[in-house]
Amino acid sequence: MTTILVTGGAGFIGSHTVIELVKAGYEPIIFDNFSNAKPAVLARIHKICGKRVPCCFGDIRVRQQLETVFKENKIDGVIHFAGLKAVGESVKKPLEYYDNNVNGSRVLLEVMRDYKCSNFIFSSSATVYGEPDKVPLTEDSPVKRANSPYGQTKIDIEYMAEELQRAIPEFSVTLLRYFNPVGAHESGLIGEDPRGIPNNLMPYLTQVAVGKLPILNIFGNDYPTKDGTCIRDYIHVVDLALGHVAAIKHCLNQGGVHIYNLGTGIGYSVLDMVNAFSKAIGRELPHQFAPRRAGDVVQCYADPSKAARELNWKAVRTLEDMTRDSYNWQKNNPNGYDD
Ligand code: NAD
Ligand code: UD1
Repeated sequence: MTTILVTGGAGFIGSHTVIELVKAGYEPIIFDNFSNAKPAVLARIHKICGKRVPCCFGDIRVRQQLETVFKENKIDGVIHFAGLKAVGESVKKPLEYYDNNVNGSRVLLEVMRDYKCSNFIFSSSATVYGEPDKVPLTEDSPVKRANSPYGQTKIDIEYMAEELQRAIPEFSVTLLRYFNPVGAHESGLIGEDPRGIPNNLMPYLTQVAVGKLPILNIFGNDYPTKDGTCIRDYIHVVDLALGHVAAIKHCLNQGGVHIYNLGTGIGYSVLDMVNAFSKAIGRELPHQFAPRRAGDVVQCYADPSKAARELNWKAVRTLEDMTRDSYNWQKNNPNGYDD
């Protein structure tokens, strides 16, 4: 039995990963302070996997709360999702982001070191590549100074984990750089539940589709791309969750630093997404062009071949799957987990 502590396991990507871990025969334990999640997700996870997944309410910055879990369980590895993730908010509250994300990760790594738990899998982001010099992005593409405190915390945590690995050679550090996670579990029971008006494209699109928001503003149509709108690599959250299971299988107890891009390798424009959504709902999704959003990169998509080669993992869900599952989740849960 392999026990995996999943920090932030009640959140969007964490909850989907917990389910795939159970399905693959692992024993996940959720550790979350519910700053951006609702306890209702736990019953939904139970319903999907037919098993009650243990959950500890705690904050990664509080050593004692983490220690309790490590004392009571033999933790074989940690998948570390816990963190704040709103780019705009991070610009307004940089110190809160450094405290929660960087300091929280430091405390977690410290406890792992002290309890001899040497497998660390971290939720990094394609944001570490900044504005790419060329696409697709490989894991060797340069990491650039981030243009937001949020992005910088990802870079800082990557470096901190790598430095620790250098000091403790048997430590295994896996850095998973996600591209744009979207979609929801096909059951329609769990999905992304943003607070307030969404910042990211897919939750905004789904809220326009169900009439919760009137119209999508497309930020910029004068970029040097095929239709003038930005290009991203959207990946279904269940494929992403399976990427974590593949990473555990491959990297557990291997020592060293392992870095993987988790994306599909396909770049879609904002207009491609609008068109796919219009098709899914059978009518044109209301949209209009608006000025560019500060800090947006023109295009960003992965070369996912390293993960395919070494982890034997590939994203298989299509754009149609992503839009259908996002829409299904939003339709079934117009107020997220609050229903
Ligand atoms: P999320 O907000 O849904 O999940 C994060 C979870 O961590 C939440 O449940 C929150 O309550 C918890 N949390 C936050 N701070 C905590 C703390 N101090 N102690 C304990 N729990 C804490 O976000 P998500 O979309 O599931 O993202 C998960 C991870 O993946 C984050 O680290 C995020 O930065 C990273 N990531 C996300 C995306 C994306 O587009 N969603 C892209 C790249 C990387
Ligand atoms: C954003 C963050 C990035 C983070 C990622 C995943 C910024 C500048 N970047 O990236 O750091 O890692 O989320 O959480 O915030 N769009 C619209 N209208 C909208 C919303 C988005 O046109 O209402 C466009 C954006 O301009 C972009 C694309 O849709 O071209 C995707 O946007 P989004 O979902 O926010 O993701 P990223 O920009 O890739």
